[in-house]
Amino acid sequence: MNFIKKVLLALKFYKERKVYGQLQVEEGNALYKCAKKFSPKVLLEIGSYKGKSANFFLRGMSHDAILHCVDTWQNDAMTEGKYNTYDIFQNNLPIEKRDQVVMHRGTSDEMSKVWDGTQLDLLFIDGDHSKEAVESDFNNWSKFVKKGGLILFHDYTNPCGVKEVVEGLIAKGTIQKIDLVKSLYISRLQ
Ligand SMILES: C[S@@+](CC[C@H](N)C(=O)[O-])C[C@H]1O[C@@H](n2cnc3c(N)ncnc32)[C@H](O)[C@@H]1O
Repeated sequence: MNFIKKVLLALKFYKERKVYGQLQVEEGNALYKCAKKFSPKVLLEIGSYKGKSANFFLRGMSHDAILHCVDTWQNDAMTEGKYNTYDIFQNNLPIEKRDQVVMHRGTSDEMSKVWDGTQLDLLFIDGDHSKEAVESDFNNWSKFVKKGGLILFHDYTNPCGVKEVVEGLIAKGTIQKIDLVKSLYISRLQ
């Protein structure tokens, strides 16, 4: 991406960029575009942290769409160590869109067991990035994703378990690649 495009993106997503997190603006733009272009009505993200990805999704979501956020909000599996990020997440949500967010506090495993079965149009996996955890997030939640629904993985190119899990799913034909934006892998459930 050239310099001017990057500056334009930075200006467009001025508010979203102010929320602290590892997500790059190009990746945030891709989340925004998924929410805008495919018009998912039920979205679920595993790993919300302080709300950066949630803000990008909310910017693109239609007014009748709901974003379910699953996190312990205890900063689990993060290099910084554990602390409570619950209030920071809530405070970082845009006031006018707070009623489009449902928070599910607990581990991804626990929350998948009590999920009411609502079908998902989009699943974003960005919690614990170990191979075992990504596999378990996929197995626990992909059964709720509609056929043809979107499944996004963050940290695909970073040293962790994400790439191995994604490549296994691609090899089996479980998911099909749509795009890779920086470290964000965008796929469709077959
Ligand atoms: C990399 S951060 C998510 C970043 C976020 N998507 C953003 O854009 O800033 C990972 C988050 O996953 C959460 N997490 C880690 N393991 C988890 C688990 N097993 N269940 C639920 N949340 C978990 C952490 O508490 C942390 O907030």
